[in-house]
This record gives sequence, C-alpha cells and structure tokens, in this order.
Amino acid sequence: MNILGIETSCDETSASIISDGNLIVNTVYSQKIHKQYGGVVPELASQEHLNEIIDVIETTLEKSNLSIVDIDALAVTYGPGLMGSLLIGLNFAKGMALSLKIPFLGINHLEGHLFSNYIDNKKIHFPHLSCLVSGGHTQLWLIKDYNDYKLLGQSIDDAAGEAFDKGARILGLNYPGGPEIDKISKNGNPNFVKFTRPKVKDSIYNFSFSGLKTALLYYCNDLSKEDLKLNIKDIAASYQEAIIDCLNQGIMNVVNNYDIKQIYISGGVASNSRFRQKSKVLQAETNISIIFPKLEYCTDNAAMITMAAYHKIIKGEKSSFDLSPIPNLKL
Ligand code: KG4
Ligand code: ZN
Repeated sequence: MNILGIETSCDETSASIISDGNLIVNTVYSQKIHKQYGGVVPELASQEHLNEIIDVIETTLEKSNLSIVDIDALAVTYGPGLMGSLLIGLNFAKGMALSLKIPFLGINHLEGHLFSNYIDNKKIHFPHLSCLVSGGHTQLWLIKDYNDYKLLGQSIDDAAGEAFDKGARILGLNYPGGPEIDKISKNGNPNFVKFTRPKVKDSIYNFSFSGLKTALLYYCNDLSKEDLKLNIKDIAASYQEAIIDCLNQGIMNVVNNYDIKQIYISGGVASNSRFRQKSKVLQAETNISIIFPKLEYCTDNAAMITMAAYHKIIKGEKSSFDLSPIPNLKL
C-alpha cells in the first residue's frame, strides 16, 4: 500500500510517500519569507503553500519512482495549525482523493510528531514516554499502544520552542530562535547565569517557561549593549541549559512514577544538540533508552504525518469529505 501524505500546518510545505510502512521519500520546502518579519506571517504562509505545493508533490512522486495512479490513499494534516495553511493542504488532498477515487485521512499534527519516532525505528516497546517539544506544544505522553495515549503533563504557558524563539528575540538573534541559540551556545558557558528552573505547583509533570523568558529579559535589560554582545554566547547557553533542565526534570518525574520501557523525544526542539547531549547522561542515570528522531523528522515534515496515517489506514480508517481544518485541534 502506497500512502501519499501532505503537511502544510505552518511554514513547511511537505509531502512524503510511505510504502507498506516504509518511508520512500520525504520532501520539505521550508518557507524563508518569514525570517525578515521575525516570525510566521499567516497570510504569507498560505500564499507560499499555494505557490509550492504542486512542485513539492511532483518532486515527491518523481523521487519515489511511482506514478500518481500507484497511490492508494492520501493523508493530510487537518490541525492544529494556521487556518489558511491547513486549508491549502486539506483541500489539495481532498481534490486528489476525489479525482483519483481513493480514500483520504485527516491527521492530527501532534499525533504526527509522536509518530516521527517510528519512521526509522522498528524496535518499539510499550508503554513508553513520548516527550513532544515543538514551537506550540510541550507535552509528556504515556503511550500504551499505537492508538492509546494519555497526556501526563504539559506547559501551562509558553511551549519550549516558543521559549527559544522569544529568548532569541530578546538576545537580538534571528527567527526561528531555537537553532540560533543552539548554534551560539556551543561555545558558551551554561553556568554563566544561574537562571531559576521554574516549577509548577499543581503537577510535577507540567512545565512553565514564561517566567524564564522574563528572567532573561530582566537580565538583559540590566546589561549595556556592549556587555550583552560580549557575553551573548554564555547568556544564551545558560538560558538554553535552563530550558533543557526543565524538560529533563519532567522526564525524570515520569520515569520515577511509571513503568516506562523507552523514552521518545519529538518536535522541533528535539533537534537541539545540548538536549541530545544531556539525554545521554539521563539515559545512563535511568537505564532507559532515550530515542530522538533523525534531524529532518524533528521539525515539521510530511513523513511523520504519513506514518501516523499508515497505522490507521491499515485498520480501515478514513475521513469524510466534509472534514474541516481545526486550528486549535487537541490530541
Ligand atoms: O515542530 P516544529 O517544527 O513546529 C511546530 O509544530 O511548532 O517546531 C518548531 C520549533 C521552533 O520554536 C524552533 O525554534 C524550535 O522548534 N527548534 C529548536 C531547534 N530547532 C528548531 N529549538 C531548539 N534547538 C534547536 N536546534
Ligand atoms: Zn510541528
């Protein structure tokens, strides 16, 4: 069975093909237009999807050596995300499904991130912990089976990726801030500023990052421009360290209270090099393997959407043509 998946929830136009559960090709076009505005501009994002989607899908088909008539089903993100962006992908998938007379299935983008961990890895053990850390979400999921998840905790304010992006803006770095902070922190001292690691009263599985961002803002406001420039690597490394420590503390809290066989990390922040480095220490402490997806499956991509769809389509799931985009879709 060949499934063509489409992802257009934010600023990546992406298509992929999974054949009998194996990824054949994944094409991602990352929109560059937003950089100059310091964040994603929704109207420009949908326009860019419209400009690029045909090319992305044609490239995907060409690379797969399959023809369009070999596609048995379509998968597409229908939320959460930007309304205009979701509409482009969803309507494109509906149009293709209608003309090819094949089924299509709407996929929750968050579920896609969880499935990014199963693209290359076939040794999956349940129950496992899935830590989803993206630009919009920071969540800890107990995964009992492919279709059986329980949300243990999440950020009560900013997501970890948002904390990276907002922190980068305070430091005067480019958007998206995560990769920028990651890059300059490599030569920085993570203990230069002792940022408090915020704790959430209600639950040991919840996170809070907005106070950390405010602490960075106050710290930078007290510095002269010259001092900020001089110490930017150390300040960025210290801020990054605080975010990673909070994530690792949440993971530890789950490990201490649940019988977990594996730990999976997903979402854009899973690309972070310090997070990956520190997870090795955590792995040694907990004796539980911590698995990150390949870098190209951390940030938004259609491969993860198609993988999530594969596990549902083989069970006969499909969507009806009245499916609408849901920008604030929950999992
Ligand atoms: O999963 P994703 O592509 O989109 C959402 O679904 O939100 O995640 C994007 C987020 C952005 O906030 C970006 O700054 C962050 O992931 N990110 C990183 C890194 N690469 C991307 N954060 C920290 N370190 C990175 N290397
Ligand atoms: Zn995402």
